[in-house]
Amino acid sequence: EKGEFRHFMMKEIYEQPEVVKATMQGRITEDRLLEQSFGNGASELFDQTRQVQIIACGTSYHAGLIAKYWIEDIAGIPCAVEVASEFRYRKHVIPDNTLFITISQSGETADTLAALRAIKEQVLASLTICNVPGSSLVRESDLSLMTNAGPEIGVASTKAFTTQLVALLMLTVALARRNGLSEEQEANIIRGLHQLPSLLLAGVRLDKDIELLAQDFAEKNHALFLGRGPLYPVAMEGALKLKEISYIHAEAYPAGELKHGPLALVDKEMPVVTVAPNNALLDKLKANLQEVKARGGELFVFAGADKIQQEDGLKVRQMPDVPEFLEPIVYTIPLQLLSYHAAVLKGTDVDQPRNLAKSVTVE
Ligand code: F6R
Repeated sequence: EKGEFRHFMMKEIYEQPEVVKATMQGRITEDRLLEQSFGNGASELFDQTRQVQIIACGTSYHAGLIAKYWIEDIAGIPCAVEVASEFRYRKHVIPDNTLFITISQSGETADTLAALRAIKEQVLASLTICNVPGSSLVRESDLSLMTNAGPEIGVASTKAFTTQLVALLMLTVALARRNGLSEEQEANIIRGLHQLPSLLLAGVRLDKDIELLAQDFAEKNHALFLGRGPLYPVAMEGALKLKEISYIHAEAYPAGELKHGPLALVDKEMPVVTVAPNNALLDKLKANLQEVKARGGELFVFAGADKIQQEDGLKVRQMPDVPEFLEPIVYTIPLQLLSYHAAVLKGTDVDQPRNLAKSVTVE
């Protein structure tokens, strides 16, 4: 039940600190990953893994795109990501010792399931990261790691996404162990995971402030979302949420692509939302922001503390300081809140957006 909340989506946004904790519980110690959480035989399969192929749809696909950054950066293993509806209908070159991963809230998405069935015989093993025990993907995969998000009722996925990211970060640690991750580096990641619930809570507490920001969106017809590195898929997820529930057309771009086309769209009717944490690419991103500002675009920036100063045409919201590998998870929260409040202001059916179904069991 919704309890004190007006919509399931909001309840599920607020549940994230708790369900993220439930997804880690019993799977990590104070400073180590418990690898047996991935099931019997997982360790031997991880030993043999030389390449990762991730398949998913929609929001779950965005989780896969973020995982690619982690798996290549932290584990040093090549990782390909593709939407299931494309993957299942084309010919593949599958390198030896490929671990095939599906990501799905429902475990029943027709295209994801079909992709698994088509490729099963050609891969080292299949692993599903899934939220519904006993679902088709769980039954048909060799290994599974459940996201313990609990039932997700809102059609727009929120807590399923952040718990998928936690599961994928744990998987990254398992793979990275085989590829030079030191005990100290592992401890650093695991300690970061223990901090995550309170960091997410700090994100959720921006709610009232973001509700005010949303007023600048509710009358707009378009919005642009920018990010760099693993925050680019976070921007894609932010744009998808806005489209789904508020019906405002939104597109995400890697910030470096701005001048290769989309900058032509920028004027005062085009709000630009940027997720800009505290990383090495911040200076590059600042240059992109100036390009938008110079064209009269209204900018909304979620940034690390004191990283970017508020000025005319630039609305900055300070985020808690976050270890770099957790940024994609924490920066997702303000974008969920922004789309939620924009939708409420527009008066759309937040939990049941038009034309969409919670579980897409047909092609
Ligand atoms: C977006 C959304 C959809 C799903 C997609 C995959 O908010 O909910 O894009 O993410 O249909 O569904 P699952 O994860 O159940 O395979």
